[in-house]
Amino acid sequence: MNFIITSPLYYVNDKPHLGSVYTTIICDSIARYKRLREENVLFITGVDEHGLKIQRTAINNGISPKEHCDEVSDIFKKNWTKWNISFNKFIRTTSQEHKKVVYEFYEKVKESNDIYMGTQKGWYCVGCEEFKDNPDNSPSRQCPIHKKNLEWKNESNLFFRLSKYQKDIEELIKNPDFIEPKERRNEIINFVSKGLKDFSISRTNLDWGIRVPDHLNHTFYVWFDALLGYVSAISSTDNNCSLDLSIESGWPANLHIIGKDILRFHAIYWPAMLISAGMKPPKKILGHGFLTREGQKMGKSLGNVLDPEILLNKYGEEAVRWYLLKDISIGSDGDFQDRRFVDIINNDLANTIGNLLNRTISMSRKWFNNQTPSISEKINNEIITLANNSIKNYLIYFDNYKLDKASNEILNFATNVNLYLNKKEPWSLIKDDKNINEVKLIIYNVLESTRIIGTLMQPILPEFSNKILYQLGAQNIEKRDWEKRLNWGLLPESNDLPTPIPIISKLDYE
Ligand code: MSP
Repeated sequence: MNFIITSPLYYVNDKPHLGSVYTTIICDSIARYKRLREENVLFITGVDEHGLKIQRTAINNGISPKEHCDEVSDIFKKNWTKWNISFNKFIRTTSQEHKKVVYEFYEKVKESNDIYMGTQKGWYCVGCEEFKDNPDNSPSRQCPIHKKNLEWKNESNLFFRLSKYQKDIEELIKNPDFIEPKERRNEIINFVSKGLKDFSISRTNLDWGIRVPDHLNHTFYVWFDALLGYVSAISSTDNNCSLDLSIESGWPANLHIIGKDILRFHAIYWPAMLISAGMKPPKKILGHGFLTREGQKMGKSLGNVLDPEILLNKYGEEAVRWYLLKDISIGSDGDFQDRRFVDIINNDLANTIGNLLNRTISMSRKWFNNQTPSISEKINNEIITLANNSIKNYLIYFDNYKLDKASNEILNFATNVNLYLNKKEPWSLIKDDKNINEVKLIIYNVLESTRIIGTLMQPILPEFSNKILYQLGAQNIEKRDWEKRLNWGLLPESNDLPTPIPIISKLDYE
């Protein structure tokens, strides 16, 4: 079965910011999970290169939009490799393949009689590339997201008959699975209930865009163009990239992951455009919250923008992943706090999991000839029950994209294993020979628990997971299918254990 998952296609006005890193990490973790669950995953990411915002950025930098886009698109692609993002397709909206798909799509929408010429008057935010509703109600004509002045536009544009799809969209969003989480869905239900208005899909006075074939002084509105990137990406590496080929190859997408600011485009405009072209809407839209820093909105004017590259170089990608995935619930806004970041990495990864692994391997090596112990029987005990409960909950959480809860489930299990080890005190028991079988069992149970922890970590922290399994000499178990690797008792007995090395270094406050 195919599972198509997409990140937004990022604007190339600047290099990746923490928001784009956050969205992409969520996608990556879900894509990895689905692959482990034996799905044939197509993970699409890419860049959104047209529009006024990009044109202006290029002009300000004194280069052509094309040169600017080539440069920044390359930065994005390289960056995702540095973050160990397992994308399968990277689409650029300036590619010829994409342009072809936009043309084809436009013809289909025209055939449905959904395009007409009208006049677009209103206040426009270049940052959002969006007309804003009722700015007269706000004290200043500023974009609430970008805090920049809106621009007045009054031009002849081509319009898309969104209003015609009122009923279809109402029907679609009735399905509680279509938009998640609930809060996001409610926002959309509320917006749709006020009645959908047609929106303009072309611009005049803007060169940097795909020309509308039958109105050559117009370029396509950047959102009309960019959303189609999800479709063109599917067949983009084929010579004959086309709408039909993308449909044959798996459209509709199973999951669009986006931030809450671009929900309307994905949950309303996009499905309506697709229905108009005779195509299926995506199956699910997952809208995450916004990141703030030390409780404040991040912004250039506030001077508090957190550069993800600095975080990456200083702490490595997995520390950042753990913080973003484990500490922030996808539906809510999340705050990035330096102190909390250091505490979480040290407590969760270095102490609760890393130390547990390290000290138990050391005990096992010391007492059992540098090997895992051999035990007479893997008898049922409290640890097995804890492991199975955690695995069950973890799978349910992951299937419902509650990545924070799934991560916390691993951590809770690790905390309980630490408690078990401390309660059993094998270091005291070993002093008396008659306890040897009991000590063997305790050590085996703890090592096997860390193997389960390592296996559960795989889609969340792939490198950290590899390191755990390597330290346990458990790489061979990797050959089985992932869910079976979660069965208790697969850690081989009397198996060589490599010298333990810390799997993550503790971080310092600065
Ligand atoms: N180009 C459009 C998307 C087109 S999809 C066909 C776009 N690009 S963006 O680069 O501005 O935004 C990309 C993503 O970053 C969005 O999902 C947005 O919600 C997210 N974030 C931007 N700032 C953010 C935070 N401060 N916190 C979390 N995510 C935020 O929109």
